Amino acid sequence: MSLTSSDRRSITRKLLHWYFLNKRDLPWRHTNDPFKIWVSEIMLQQTQVATVIPYYQRWIKHFPTLASFASAPSSEILRYWAGLGYYRRARMFHQAAQHVHKKLKGAIPRTAEALRSLPGIGRYTAGAIASIAFGEKTPVLDGNVIRILTRIFAIAQDVALPSTLDILWELAASLLPDQNPGDMNQALMELGATLCFPWNPRCPQCPVKALCMARKKKKTTVFPVRPKKEKYEKLEMAALVLQNSHGEVWLEKQRDDGRWGGLWMFPFWENKKTLLKEIEDLRPRATFFLALQHGYTKYRITLKVYRLRLPRKKMECRFLKRRHGRWVPLEKTRGLAFPSPHRKIAASLLAENI
Ligand code: ADE
Repeated sequence: MSLTSSDRRSITRKLLHWYFLNKRDLPWRHTNDPFKIWVSEIMLQQTQVATVIPYYQRWIKHFPTLASFASAPSSEILRYWAGLGYYRRARMFHQAAQHVHKKLKGAIPRTAEALRSLPGIGRYTAGAIASIAFGEKTPVLDGNVIRILTRIFAIAQDVALPSTLDILWELAASLLPDQNPGDMNQALMELGATLCFPWNPRCPQCPVKALCMARKKKKTTVFPVRPKKEKYEKLEMAALVLQNSHGEVWLEKQRDDGRWGGLWMFPFWENKKTLLKEIEDLRPRATFFLALQHGYTKYRITLKVYRLRLPRKKMECRFLKRRHGRWVPLEKTRGLAFPSPHRKIAASLLAENI
């Protein structure tokens, strides 16, 4: 690391200047309201900016204040979250908001340290909210910021190591100005999102290219250094679209405490064989409907979807009795919260009826 403290001040100055001229016009950049900034940071945790924008806008219209959100029932919250995925975020956000509303008289904690004690707020999100909403001089570090810092400072240590992350958190902190540190944090996020891409960084347009040590070494994309990629595990699952003669589909509400707490899903099994076995007595036979790919943590899941139309409304069917489900008119599925692949199944069925 051979950048001097004057180099660092120069990096900060150049990045801030570039940010003011080039920042994207994002809806959460028009507010100082800590609740709204909190909403944006939770939505942005695992979701891209372009996807978040319409959800954020709908959310703010419907839950304009912490109080309105904290007092809403969870079913309503899930409805406004539906489609963003990683529903645990919404549940934890709700718990945190209720805590602030009831126990802290609605006053959102103003420091990263205090924010981190709330459910769903990790070190990154705490730093983002505290710096952007409250002007605390506290850093953020996520994949984008890691990429930028390891490049500018040519950090060759494995970024999966806690000791490397400690260095990076310190570096991120050392770049913060006294005034408006939130802008600097957002400038770093912005550089990562719009120029300093993982495989094809746009170095000629970069405001700090003259100081970037990775660029000097002509090794930009070598950084960040990571251990060998973990292989994804492939997994197959199977789901069933069961329709009756009244245009209804069979949906099951998941237990509140599980991975899909409170969401609606088509009945599903660990593979096609168990699904077909379960419905082997039914006539007509199920037919293949579609296959969906999706990722969850280290798994790459192929969801094979079968379909069976029952000729009569009331039919004997073993699994209908033992599962927590009900018949739902297809049109009504628009208002329900589904995990993303199941929402796609419902959308395909709705599309057929147009
Ligand atoms: N990603 C996480 N927080 C962000 C923010 N405030 N602006 C843009 N992208 C982000």
